[in-house]
Amino acid sequence: MSKVTVVGAGNVGATVANVLAHHDIVREVVLLDIQGDFARGKALDTWQQAPIDYFSTRLLGTDDYKDTANSDIVVITAGVPRKPGMTRDDLISTNAKIVSTVTQSILEHSANPIIIIVSNPLDVMTYAAHKISGLPDTRVFGMAGILDTARYRAFLATALDVSPKDIQAVLMGGHGDTMVPLPRYTTVAGIPVTDLIDSETLDAIIERTKKGGGELVKLMGTSAWYAPGAAAAQMVASIVRDERRVFPCCVRLNGEYGLNDIFLGVPVTLGKNGIEQKIELKLNEEEKASLNTSAEHVRAVMEVYNSMELG
Ligand code: NAI
Ligand code: 2OP
Repeated sequence: MSKVTVVGAGNVGATVANVLAHHDIVREVVLLDIQGDFARGKALDTWQQAPIDYFSTRLLGTDDYKDTANSDIVVITAGVPRKPGMTRDDLISTNAKIVSTVTQSILEHSANPIIIIVSNPLDVMTYAAHKISGLPDTRVFGMAGILDTARYRAFLATALDVSPKDIQAVLMGGHGDTMVPLPRYTTVAGIPVTDLIDSETLDAIIERTKKGGGELVKLMGTSAWYAPGAAAAQMVASIVRDERRVFPCCVRLNGEYGLNDIFLGVPVTLGKNGIEQKIELKLNEEEKASLNTSAEHVRAVMEVYNSMELG
């Protein structure tokens, strides 16, 4: 694989391009934005980092979809971010139109790309891109679970005073306050986290994780970008290198977890074909109930999207 396009050269998109260039695993990253000069500037700035940080990946900034021709992977970050007081779902009226248009424009120049959605509301924007593109389920999916799990792991690392490298966890469900962290599947170097932390502290960390995006919006007046950008780049890397890494990603469920025709975060393996496998955990009754609540929330926003009749 040699070419990745990132649509949206704002905070998240520029970070994806920058982190990806540092991975040095693709020939070219195209950064496209309706603000063409902004995209050109971000691409040039990253390219001027190459002699310092030693990478060879070429960067091209543009507002012309012709430059995206024959992309292997496309990461869509175009759209507006949250401002304080907004939920991710409040973004749908603006972002649904943007994601729909971007998906159509991409497909005019790349026949069979893998599309990774980042724009919010994430689960429903992934549903929209899948519906509009007509691409197989394995080739259209969303980034949220890596970020949400990373927030959970980072909070645990601080509380336990251990390296975040040694915290393994999985977090499922929609990218919103109904997300489902799974303490039963959380370990510190193989040790169950519940052996190391009291339930009150763990519960507080879970609550903080669920509202982790909002915490950053309050602090900065806009949403986060370093961790989200690195998370999307990590997904691209697993695909380009055909690593089959296991990540929670937003994918279409066709009966897994008893859910159908919905896009929701579940653990998958990512390789050269996109989603290689969906992993079905044996959830207990409480976990299943939380996942179903999250699914109901996502379905309600999917209905809002359907009522917009964008395709
Ligand atoms: P930003 O405002 O910094 O950048 C968005 C960029 O999209 C702007 O440069 C804008 O010109 C561009 N854009 C708007 N319409 C476009 C179009 N039709 N075609 C091409 N480019 C277009 O926003 P930021 O912080 O980069 O966030 C982008 C999106 O990602 C937001 O919807 C945000 O909520 C979402 N997000 C999702 C996360 C996740 O975990 N899935 C994490 C962080 C952000
Ligand atoms: C986040 O969780 C805004 O969805 C974005 O930071």
